[in-house]
Amino acid sequence: MSSETNSVTSSLNRALLYLLDDNPVIYCAANGSRRKVKSIVLGNSEIVSSRLVYGCMRICGDNSRKDREAGKAALRAAVEAGYTHFDHADIYAGGNAESLFSEVLDETPGLRAKLLITSKCGIRLLNQPSEGLPKRYDFSRDYILSSVKASLQRLGIDCLDLLLLHRPDYLLNAEDVAGTFRILKESGLVANFGVSNFSPSQFALLQSYSDEKLLVNQVEINIDNISAITDGTLDQCQRLKVTPMAWCPLGGVVYPAWGGTLAKEQSNRIQAELASQSAKYQAEPWIVILAWLLKHPAEIAPIIGSTQPSRIAAALRALELDYTAEDWYRLLEARNGREVP
Ligand SMILES: NC(=O)c1ccc[n+]([C@@H]2O[C@H](COP(=O)([O-])OP(=O)(O)OC[C@H]3O[C@@H](n4cnc5c(N)ncnc54)[C@H](OP(=O)(O)O)[C@@H]3O)[C@@H](O)[C@H]2O)c1
Repeated sequence: MSSETNSVTSSLNRALLYLLDDNPVIYCAANGSRRKVKSIVLGNSEIVSSRLVYGCMRICGDNSRKDREAGKAALRAAVEAGYTHFDHADIYAGGNAESLFSEVLDETPGLRAKLLITSKCGIRLLNQPSEGLPKRYDFSRDYILSSVKASLQRLGIDCLDLLLLHRPDYLLNAEDVAGTFRILKESGLVANFGVSNFSPSQFALLQSYSDEKLLVNQVEINIDNISAITDGTLDQCQRLKVTPMAWCPLGGVVYPAWGGTLAKEQSNRIQAELASQSAKYQAEPWIVILAWLLKHPAEIAPIIGSTQPSRIAAALRALELDYTAEDWYRLLEARNGREVP
């Protein structure tokens, strides 16, 4: 099939998805339940993902037996609630998050086929693999291939649905990485590719060498860190039909964001505005902030990282709010301490 035909088919599928229902849904019958969860098509592809992605970074807790059991309960709750897309990385809990996930997959025959499994690679931790080596990024062919194989082994699956490069390697050789993607695709180890924490220019550089369409850019987006909104990242996502996945979506609301920059007065203003909107929408402040992210036309897919089953299910409420552009700006104004120019 030509790429043009592919693109027409893809557009038709998109149209169908939206025609079938104003608020596209998928039904998760993995365990007999039929919960509705709004869905999106990932990037310029035909791959359907639940709009909220479940993030597996915290599922092992301190890796004690108790925390691991709680992590498995969280994963089951996410499946039960209708999340179909699960986000991993080779470094989460030192690889234990992927292994724990495989235990849950093993409990339910047929479950794996119903889920999208994403993992990330490219960060090498201090003293890895041997003492004295610095923390660094590594997009070399050997390292990416070995990391993917190790993730697949821990996850107990044959192929990753989506592989993301975790953080941009300053020594990125785009042509070389494009070649590595080709090997991973042709060997059937990875079906689709994307990036994480890439600037628009880094994204454009890699895309210019890669035959593989980069489907997502996973970046931090929350009320504290709005760089993706202002630095061209979300503009690029809209223009190229790339799905922005938002990590730490609740940063600055229920805990300080990564490298938090909010001053006390800023936080107070945000909390006050959220309290007012919370009353208006009859939803908790953290649900309102998810609706704030969902409002952006780039179709942000927030990654939910709670390990509490009740919160994992409750997050879906954000998809139901009829959140207005005026409230979006009120919250931005509260954050900035001034109206837009
Ligand atoms: N690509 C990257 O560089 C990158 C970086 C970081 C994360 N990620 C991905 O993004 C995912 C989500 O990140 P995240 O876990 O930081 O997301 P998050 O959903 O913003 O935060 C989850 C944290 O907030 C707490 N929380 C949630 N709701 C709460 C509430 N109502 N009140 C108080 N605390 C609440 C959770 O505690 P409980 O568990 O007690 O609910 C948990 O500690 C990760 O799992 C990972 O997959 C990617």
